[in-house]
Amino acid sequence: RGKRAFIAGVADDNGYGWAIAKSLAAAGAEILVGTWVPALNIFETSLRRGKFDESRVLPDGSSMEITKVYPLDAVYDSPEDVPEDIKTNKRYAGSSKWTVKEAAESVKEDFGTIDILVHSLANGPEVSKPILETSRNGYLAAISASSYSFISLLKHFIPIMNPGGATISLTYIASEKIIPGYGGGMSSAKAALESDTKVLAFEAGRKHNIRVNTISAGPLRSRAAKAIGFIDMMIDYSLENAPLQKELTADEVGNAAAFLASPLASAITGAVVYVDNGLNAMGVGV
Ligand code: NAI
Repeated sequence: RGKRAFIAGVADDNGYGWAIAKSLAAAGAEILVGTWVPALNIFETSLRRGKFDESRVLPDGSSMEITKVYPLDAVYDSPEDVPEDIKTNKRYAGSSKWTVKEAAESVKEDFGTIDILVHSLANGPEVSKPILETSRNGYLAAISASSYSFISLLKHFIPIMNPGGATISLTYIASEKIIPGYGGGMSSAKAALESDTKVLAFEAGRKHNIRVNTISAGPLRSRAAKAIGFIDMMIDYSLENAPLQKELTADEVGNAAAFLASPLASAITGAVVYVDNGLNAMGVGV
């Protein structure tokens, strides 16, 4: 039987989530995606109208099929947590069952189980502010959307994951080294995500035989990264200073994710795996 993957955080064909979906599909997995509710309409319309047809093509010439798109807002665990203004917001009112708990229930109803869970989402409303100017709410929102969201996904999806399954998130080196511009508590959120990767690997490994890893990815011109505002500079910096002087493609991260999700990585858990042309290993720029 082929593996089934749920990838949270796909809303266009530019980001890491899309590339991971493609690599998993190329390896034979069935693809389910979770799409942020406010982005759902445009994503589904674009899919239907063939806007992604070119980027859906897999190495063997076939086309990636997304079996089902689920609405998701990973900031809310269950319906009781959703505030009134979100409930009645017209971008949300058109969809239902998009809290993490309900999304897991829907996947269970539709397919029973999954084998692979990918968290490729982050959000920090004050990302463009230095941390000294970040509000408490902004900081907590970054942690909620970018770190706790992974814990919540695991909590609700592990019960429907087959033993031997794998989970992956995406992190960034700003968690451990100073990257001015990655503000609003986003650096803190990635530090939490990496630390949680270890503790979750222990808990999910012992109890459920599930692996938990995170990929520390180099810079990619995704929608989220463009919103931060310094992505071109980071790409240029990497080109100049990394051991491998080439632009990082999303596919390279997708392929690493497919490896980590596969039996080839059956002894790898609790790891931060760098997929960044080696930039993390440099001490000074040369
Ligand atoms: P992206 O824009 O393709 O992906 C982020 C996704 O998160 C979007 O689809 C957005 O709709 C979704 N999202 C935001 N808030 C959400 C919520 N509350 N619930 C559900 N979905 C939500 O951008 P990218 O860059 O591919 O991001 C994917 C992951 O890769 C993130 O964790 C990011 O921090 C990480 N990453 C990105 C790097 C880059 O240079 N682009 C470098 C290292 C890590």
